[in-house]
Amino acid sequence: MKTAVIYKSRTGFTKKYALWISEALSAELFEASYVSAKMLEAYDTVIFGGNLHAVGIDGVKLITRNLLKLKGKRVIVFAVGLSVPDEKIRNEVLNNNFSLDERERIRFFYFRGGFDRSRLSLTDKILMALLKKKIENKKRKGLKLADDEKGMLAIYDKSVDYTSKKSIEPLVAYVKG
Ligand SMILES: Cc1cc2nc3c(=O)[nH]c(=O)nc-3n(C[C@H](O)[C@H](O)[C@H](O)COP(=O)(O)O)c2cc1C
Repeated sequence: MKTAVIYKSRTGFTKKYALWISEALSAELFEASYVSAKMLEAYDTVIFGGNLHAVGIDGVKLITRNLLKLKGKRVIVFAVGLSVPDEKIRNEVLNNNFSLDERERIRFFYFRGGFDRSRLSLTDKILMALLKKKIENKKRKGLKLADDEKGMLAIYDKSVDYTSKKSIEPLVAYVKG
């Protein structure tokens, strides 16, 4: 069984999960920019991990656009975001990124990453600053903040790492099983 683990990471958290998964499965590890659908022909199992960016899984089109070419292979996608893992976020990410057919074909996992503003691109820094302003305005108006919004205000100036090696266990068990 040959397995490829491909990742797209902006600040390193998805890369960390991809590395753990590739080690646990003795799989080959690739950064998404270096991967083509043609290269994936050589693998029985293809695992793609992308960071969450405005509920989109960064780079997941490498998988969704090439599902026909991946026929006969096991396809797994994991997303890494700041949100606390629960059924709501799982469904939100699934609905936002996959059609119903794709959901049947792809096994999906969600892992909690972290936040490191110092490693963001300039565009992402600006986006986060705007988001922070929006949440602060909401707070100022006395409106109720969602848990994610409260979390964002709390960690904005810090760097936090919620990654956990244990959380990859269901994915590893699925591939091994
Ligand atoms: C502009 C921007 C948008 C983001 N959108 C989301 C989101 O919709 N949901 C979420 O859970 N995390 C979101 N995040 C947080 C990242 O997904 C999180 O920091 C993740 O760990 C980054 O992974 P990486 O280090 O592999 O890039 C966002 C971060 C940035 C900078």
